[in-house]
Amino acid sequence: MSNQGEGRWIAFEGGEGSGKTTQALLLSSKLQAVLTREPGGTVVGERIRALLLDPMVIGVDDRAEALLMAADRAQHVTERVRPALDEGKVVVSDRSAYSSLAYQGYGRGLGSDAVRALCTWATRGLWPDLAILLDVPPHVSAERMRAPADRMEAAGEEFHRRVQDGFRQLAEAEPDVWVVVDGTGTVREVADRVSAAYRRWAGVDD
Ligand code: TMP
Repeated sequence: MSNQGEGRWIAFEGGEGSGKTTQALLLSSKLQAVLTREPGGTVVGERIRALLLDPMVIGVDDRAEALLMAADRAQHVTERVRPALDEGKVVVSDRSAYSSLAYQGYGRGLGSDAVRALCTWATRGLWPDLAILLDVPPHVSAERMRAPADRMEAAGEEFHRRVQDGFRQLAEAEPDVWVVVDGTGTVREVADRVSAAYRRWAGVDD
């Protein structure tokens, strides 16, 4: 569903080591936007995030993982995103429900339709207006990540390949929502590509 009012919600998406945290920070300061993240972004969400990413937490059921991501998101949208959009602000988030489609839908094999329905319920139908996919080949993300630091990063190569394919399929299926940006090169080079892609999407002249 497209957001009502003046506000706009832009989400950065991509696999591990795609550089989205850095690029979300840069674009948000350029646009004077509210910067936030999923999972996290609220007190409740940061606690859910700590649980989800803790490598000492083992045996998490795939559906439990999807539900925890959705619980984080429900809190985040209600407490941070919706109020900011209602005030006409631009919100830039480091990940969104699209990550659930890629990680839980494709990566865990829960299916993107089921996960989409869960996310739509959690957010009362609010989805980002724009998703920027930072696309990097596996060797670049592996270099940037070095050792897996958290429970999701440690999920294995095959899992992360399915996630990456999932992101590409999602972007292809919904070209009105997604822009795919080459995430290789320096921070500056990627930031310039992100800015250009944003301006094209927003219809802003150079
Ligand atoms: P990040 O802050 O490094 O992006 O870490 C968040 C991790 O959580 C990352 O591995 C992606 C994963 N994740 C999901 O699996 N599903 C989701 O819905 C979201 C938002 C993140």
